[in-house]
Amino acid sequence: MSTFTMDTSTSRATPSPVPGKRTTAPSIRARKVDGKTEQPIVMLTAYTMRMAQLLDPHCDMLLVGDSLGQVIYGLPSTIPVTMDMMCAHGAAVVRGSWHALVAVDMPFGSYEGSPEQAFECAAHIMKQTGCAAVKLEGGEAMAPTIRFLTERGIPVIGHVGLTPQAVNILGGYGARGKSDAEAEKIVRDAVAVDQAGAFSIVLEGVMETIATEVARGVSAPIIGIGASVDCDGQVLVTEDMLGLFERTPRFVKRYDDLAARIGEAASTYAAEVRERRFPTADQTYRPKP
Ligand code: KIV
Repeated sequence: MSTFTMDTSTSRATPSPVPGKRTTAPSIRARKVDGKTEQPIVMLTAYTMRMAQLLDPHCDMLLVGDSLGQVIYGLPSTIPVTMDMMCAHGAAVVRGSWHALVAVDMPFGSYEGSPEQAFECAAHIMKQTGCAAVKLEGGEAMAPTIRFLTERGIPVIGHVGLTPQAVNILGGYGARGKSDAEAEKIVRDAVAVDQAGAFSIVLEGVMETIATEVARGVSAPIIGIGASVDCDGQVLVTEDMLGLFERTPRFVKRYDDLAARIGEAASTYAAEVRERRFPTADQTYRPKP
């Protein structure tokens, strides 16, 4: 599966113009030296080939997050997301990128049963998509699984703090670590995932003080989302960051207002169709004079 062999004659796909070496898991891990990351790691979610092409030049890592359940499929949570969904979107993102490391989320139910189950599913994802890493949620309880995968050739990104696949245990998507006990547990989770061999760790939805403590105390780069500017890198859901949703969580910064711009474009198109002002001569095939 190569990023450079797309058949452009039958699609709008733009071929990847810059063959080169992809960012690797060890190179991401190596960005943090003596507890510090000189240049913060940039990560965004991508679910489609075209979005991957647009984001790739700007990102160190592209995450095919299981947030695609809500963002692409309109599901109520990430729980119903399937292996087939992750594989189809993961393969599209790998085809649309050439520089960033592509990591694919392991969907709920595909890794929690045992390290062996996790290996089988992670290997399937890697074979189907060509991605270079998987991400899975969970702290101390998942550490043996992370060790099992990394010792068998599968780079793993951990995910601690607010873990959306555990929404039914957590009772919602609120920030974590408000009590001392919860804060201590998040730190223990991050340390366990780090020691198990994760090459980086997503830290989501936690009190800023915890994020700072984790980022300083853990050797793997910490990628924050709703965490702290002190993290070693940041990730956002691209559609949130682009303003495709009217309502976003507090930790999202909107860098554009695409929902409004798409609405305006669609409204202009609709008016032109209804008034027979589209298509014009420019968009019509006519015999050459
Ligand atoms: O699924 C996802 O998009 C994620 C990010 C929010 C980190 O896990």
